[in-house]
Amino acid sequence: MTDNPADNLRIREERLIDHERIYRIHESVFAGHREARLGDRLRRSDLAQISLVAERFSDPESGRHLSEGEGGLLGHVMASRVELSGCPGRVLMALAPLAVLPQHQRHGIGKRLVISAVKRCRLLGAGAVVAAGHAEFYAHLGFHPARHYGLYCHHEDVPGAFVAIELVPDYLAGLGGEVLFDHGFSDLGL
Ligand SMILES: CC(C)(COP(=O)(O)OP(=O)(O)OC[C@H]1O[C@@H](n2cnc3c(N)ncnc32)[C@H](O)[C@@H]1OP(=O)(O)O)[C@@H](O)C(=O)NCCC(=O)NCCS
Repeated sequence: MTDNPADNLRIREERLIDHERIYRIHESVFAGHREARLGDRLRRSDLAQISLVAERFSDPESGRHLSEGEGGLLGHVMASRVELSGCPGRVLMALAPLAVLPQHQRHGIGKRLVISAVKRCRLLGAGAVVAAGHAEFYAHLGFHPARHYGLYCHHEDVPGAFVAIELVPDYLAGLGGEVLFDHGFSDLGL
């Protein structure tokens, strides 16, 4: 039996039993605990409106079906509300943290997590989504450099690139401004 993780994966909402495993994913992917702690903080502050895990749905050895909570978690993404300065009515969401376990990267898992999270952002009424990370990875998914929309964030030294995607055509047209993150993000320089 092949073990291509992308063929053996469900994307589902997090449950209480996942919290510690999610923490460990971020801890093992990023140096330090900043991203792992961000997840906990967003959850505690009720800012995290979306939190999805990528979980195996069958045992790679035996093929036995694994129910939710039983399969190994290979990745995780959260999305939470952010504000656009001077535009209180605009609904923007930020994807963070996002991580796929190193040994399972480049198998399409990150892409599936982001696509699912963005779909849910749209259902929650968001008109645009921002993220900080690998510009090329996000470019594959239709994101553009945030400056293309005149968006910036407080810290110049955002890790990687600051990117954005419109979910509603021209949602950001003619606006621009600073994307305001909750103080929970300050450890990440946002
Ligand atoms: C960034 C990350 C989430 C991507 O997840 P992944 O499962 O490895 O990515 P995918 O396999 O879904 O990649 C989707 C596409 O983006 C490309 N891609 C993935 N990571 C990339 C990177 N770092 N740079 C450039 N392109 C990348 C893939 O080649 C793939 O292209 P394809 O659709 O033409 O095959 C993962 O590498 C990760 O956890 N990195 C460390 C944590 C991190 O940096 N998080 C910040 C958010 S970006």
